This record gives sequence, C-alpha cells and structure tokens, in this order.
Amino acid sequence: MGKSTVTVNLAVALARQGASVAILDADVYGFSVPSMLGIDRPPVLLGDLLVPPVAHGVRCISMGFFVDDDQAVMWRGPMLHKALEQFLVDVHWGKPDFLMLDLPPGTGDVAMSIAQFVPRAEVLVVTTPQVAAERVAQRAAVLARQLRLPVRGVVENQSWFTGDDGKRYELFGHGGGETLAKSLGVALLGQIPFLTTLRQAGDSGVPVAVSDPEGEAGRAFASLAERVVALGPGRVYRSELSIG
Ligand SMILES: Nc1ncnc2c1ncn2[C@@H]1O[C@H](COP(=O)(O)OP(=O)(O)OP(=O)(O)O)[C@@H](O)[C@H]1O
Ligand SMILES: [Mg+2]
Repeated sequence: MGKSTVTVNLAVALARQGASVAILDADVYGFSVPSMLGIDRPPVLLGDLLVPPVAHGVRCISMGFFVDDDQAVMWRGPMLHKALEQFLVDVHWGKPDFLMLDLPPGTGDVAMSIAQFVPRAEVLVVTTPQVAAERVAQRAAVLARQLRLPVRGVVENQSWFTGDDGKRYELFGHGGGETLAKSLGVALLGQIPFLTTLRQAGDSGVPVAVSDPEGEAGRAFASLAERVVALGPGRVYRSELSIG
C-alpha cells in the first residue's frame, strides 16, 4: 500500500537533492505516476528515441501514455514483455543516477521481465505497520530469490497520524516495517506518516515532497532519500572485468 506514492515522492526528493532521476511506471494495470507528477503530455519522438516528459525534475515514461485503461487489462505476458523492453531500450533516459521502476502489485509477468531487462535492479519493499510481517517477508524474499534481485531496504508507509494535539496515533498498528526489515536482513530506511495532504497531492499532480518539503511527510521523504543515497549501489560493476 503506497508503492506509487513512495516511488514518486522519493524520486522528487532525490531530484531536489541533486540526483538525476527517472521513473518507469511499469504498472500496466493502474498506472498512476503521470497523474501524481502532473504530467499530461506524452513523450516526444526524437529520431528513433522517445524523450520522456519531465516534471519536478523527474523524467517519466508510463504505460499510461500508450494505452487506455480498458485496454491495459487485456495485455498478456509477451506483449507486456515487449513493451517493457521498448521502454528501457527506445527511451532517451540519459544517464540517471536512479531509474525507479514502479511495479504493479503482486509477483507477475512485469516483475519477471524487469528482472531480465534490468539484471542490476534492486528492490525496496514498501509495507504498512500492521501487516502480517512474516508473510510479507516471505513473499518479498521468495520474489527476490526468483528474480535474483537483492532487496536493499524496507519503507514503512502510513506509520502514524499526527493529531492536532501533536500526538502520534498509530492507526495502522506498530512495528511491521521493523519486523519485516529484520527478517529480510536489511535496514528500515524510512517511515512515512499518514497525511491527508499526501492523498490530495496524489490527485493534484504536485507531490508533497515538492509542495511542502518542510512538512512532516516532506521531511520524511527527504530523509528517506538521504538514506537511499547513503546506501550506494549494492553491487559494483567493474567494466574491465566484462567480456567482449
Ligand atoms: N502516507 C499516506 N498518507 C495518506 N494517503 C496515502 C499515503 N500513502 C498512500 N496514500 C493514498 O493511498 C492510495 C494508494 O496509494 P498508492 O497508489 O501509492 O498505492 P500503490 O501501492 O501504488 O497501489 P497499487 O497497488 O494500486 O499500485 C492513494 O490514494 C494514496 O494517495
Ligand atoms: Mg501503484
């Protein structure tokens, strides 16, 4: 819950800290990234390459640019696979420090294709405080093993709600992120509060990390971005060791 919200706000927070950031919205069934970023124009074709639109310093390509809602649900594995390949190969991504991939829920064809096309991809697991952590941990671990992608950290979303009295109310339980991170053997990289403005921002096209960077959620995303930068690349690839 909150994968796309976390993806978009983390992307924008990273861009505000000076990183070059792009998002591939690979959620064919519920692409929400363009509207969260306030992007309503499609990519521009430049020669053979698609140039992604940019908003709040973040470049974005989405399945949503190319299909209508009712079409997307009919897409099958091979078509998805081909489309994802095109999005990775035929798009002028530049050389982003972070190419973030927003995946649809579950462990489907999209995740398998991504693992194949982006073998260096790394996984951030978004969870909520109340989840049956063991089950989620198992699912995430199994997926990562199947895809041979390392899990780098956990983000807990909707960790608390701060009332007008300044008190934190843990509406959705407590400890889910910490437990999950422990059982996966990774760090809990951030906790994002529940905020009605986060939902409104999702509709308005201006992420909270931009509109209110000093607010409670804005600061949470800024500190998450710092943790992600500090994490660095999980595996270092030395070009002199490659063959061919
Ligand atoms: N911390 C938060 N505070 C308030 N609202 C939130 C928060 N996180 C997410 N939401 C709201 O919850 C809804 C679902 O969030 P989001 O679309 O990011 O989830 P998702 O995991 O990407 O969902 P899907 O599985 O459909 O892709 C959205 O309306 C979003 O604005
Ligand atoms: Mg989503």
